[in-house]
Amino acid sequence: MGAALASAALFAADARAAPGTDADAVTYRRHVMKTRGEQAAALGMVLQQKGPAENAAIHARTIALTAKAALKAFEAQVPGGEAKAEIWRNWPDFTKRLKTLSDGADDLAAIAEREGLSAMQAKVMSVLSCKSCHDAYTLRQGR
Ligand code: HEC
Repeated sequence: MGAALASAALFAADARAAPGTDADAVTYRRHVMKTRGEQAAALGMVLQQKGPAENAAIHARTIALTAKAALKAFEAQVPGGEAKAEIWRNWPDFTKRLKTLSDGADDLAAIAEREGLSAMQAKVMSVLSCKSCHDAYTLRQGR
């Protein structure tokens, strides 16, 4: 952790130099995606009353943020990892899906804050539809 932060600081000082390598682009966006997966898992636990209800909105907002971060993360046109080249061939569709996820997750957070967990529960499946994008654009078929 300390070393990672130290190197992050080094890179920050050099922010206008050439962006990272192709491998960096893949590693970076996978960190963003894993964050999304972890937050979805945490929210799932909350909805099953295995985690604190107070955090439901936080998890939904964090998912929205990961979708915003992903928009930038995929600008580097680097197939690899589990990502298919179709992402960049169908860029408007791909970015629209990320925008829909981001807006939807923000709405979920607002619903949780205003109306509580069961109101959020009723909407969660339609908003957090991860599978259709994975089926279209990744090697993660069916999940
Ligand atoms: C707009 C399309 C899109 C949507 C919507 C989407 N994903 Fe993904 N996801 C991807 C792509 C593309 C990858 C592959 C990235 C790579 O390997 O470079 C991925 C990969 C992942 C990974 C694997 C990360 C790793 O490297 O181990 C997880 C976990 C994940 N997504 C979770 C989610 C969850 C949870 C949701 C729904 C809340 C979601 N995704 C919605 C496009 C999407």
